Amino acid sequence: MGEPLVLGIETSCDETGIAIVQGSTLLAEVIASSVDEQARFGGVVPEVASRAHVEALTSTLNQVRENAGVAWTDLDAVAVTAGPGLVGALLVGVAAAQGIAVAIDRPIYGVNHLAAHVAVDRLVHGDLSEPALALLVSGGHTSLLRIDDLATDINPMGQTLDDAAGEAFDKIGRLLGLPFPGGPHIDALARQGRPDAIAFPRGLTDAASDAEHRHDFSFSGLKTAVARWLTAQQRSGTPVVAADVAAAFQEAVVDVLVTKAIRACTESGIDVLLVGGGVAANSRLRSLVTERAEPAGIEVRIPPRELCTDNGAMVAALGSLLVERGVAPTLPSGASGLASLSEAGGGFDADSSLPVTQVSLVTPGE
Ligand code: KG4
Ligand code: ZN
Repeated sequence: MGEPLVLGIETSCDETGIAIVQGSTLLAEVIASSVDEQARFGGVVPEVASRAHVEALTSTLNQVRENAGVAWTDLDAVAVTAGPGLVGALLVGVAAAQGIAVAIDRPIYGVNHLAAHVAVDRLVHGDLSEPALALLVSGGHTSLLRIDDLATDINPMGQTLDDAAGEAFDKIGRLLGLPFPGGPHIDALARQGRPDAIAFPRGLTDAASDAEHRHDFSFSGLKTAVARWLTAQQRSGTPVVAADVAAAFQEAVVDVLVTKAIRACTESGIDVLLVGGGVAANSRLRSLVTERAEPAGIEVRIPPRELCTDNGAMVAALGSLLVERGVAPTLPSGASGLASLSEAGGGFDADSSLPVTQVSLVTPGE
């Protein structure tokens, strides 16, 4: 086989992301988002997300195949996010992926959404550099990972003890009356504010907590501090400059993320830092990490913004990596045939709490 042609399907949250890659080249990608529908509820409603995936999937799949200029039977494998995420949303993608894999008799990989956020780097920079350190910052997760082999060997160093970085952005966005999701709106508003206008706390950076939670994060104290500050201003009748709050809050989050990521690199002698997940689209995070990494001799790899937030390209990128590295699929081609699927009791399931260390699902029963 030359470079494997892989279809990627992502439906773990509110984006229906479909893509086709050849090795580490992205051929086509389409994202259908239900975020505008979700915004009316001020957050992601699982049932709304699942329904939107069902509605978007067929036309999105066809559009990507057409844009890539390939036939379904040209594909070497199908990759789909199996977790973590909203179970109903995940199941839509898993069912569709299995349907396609059965129809064309190809192997199928049920992959980890978080590892996929890291794998997307190969579409931008080509071959992954391993070992690398990954700072993964999304709406549901905030982790520092040591990547020894992205296909098989991911080692968590630290994670958030409470809110995820993106969740913190979204909660503060709500406090400031910004639309959901707050992250991109805070990013835009912060550009008109002063990051040093208010001194917000940097969680888990003092010497006492540092020993035990050196590589962990905590954002709930910051969230409370912002809420208290806003209440105090309102009580005293002082007008709030929302842009200053946004800038000072953002600076606190980004400062902690960057400080801890660079320190983890330096301490473990790793000179490549991959930054991924929706919050990696943040303009201040992108500039500060680059600024601080350079003097430390660390190469920073951040995908372009549109590949940071959820998409199908990252899933296809991880799928093609697994094929190239000879990792056993979740269901091999023969086994994904209709007869054996029914014998096996219907293929494989989504796993809403798939741990980050499990890059892909192994064949059920093996
Ligand atoms: O990775 P992602 O698309 O979905 C999850 O897997 O969670 O991340 C979504 C998160 C949301 O919390 C959103 O507010 C945040 O990423 N986000 C941002 C920016 N763009 C998206 N946060 C800060 N600044 C941004 N520019
Ligand atoms: Zn994500």
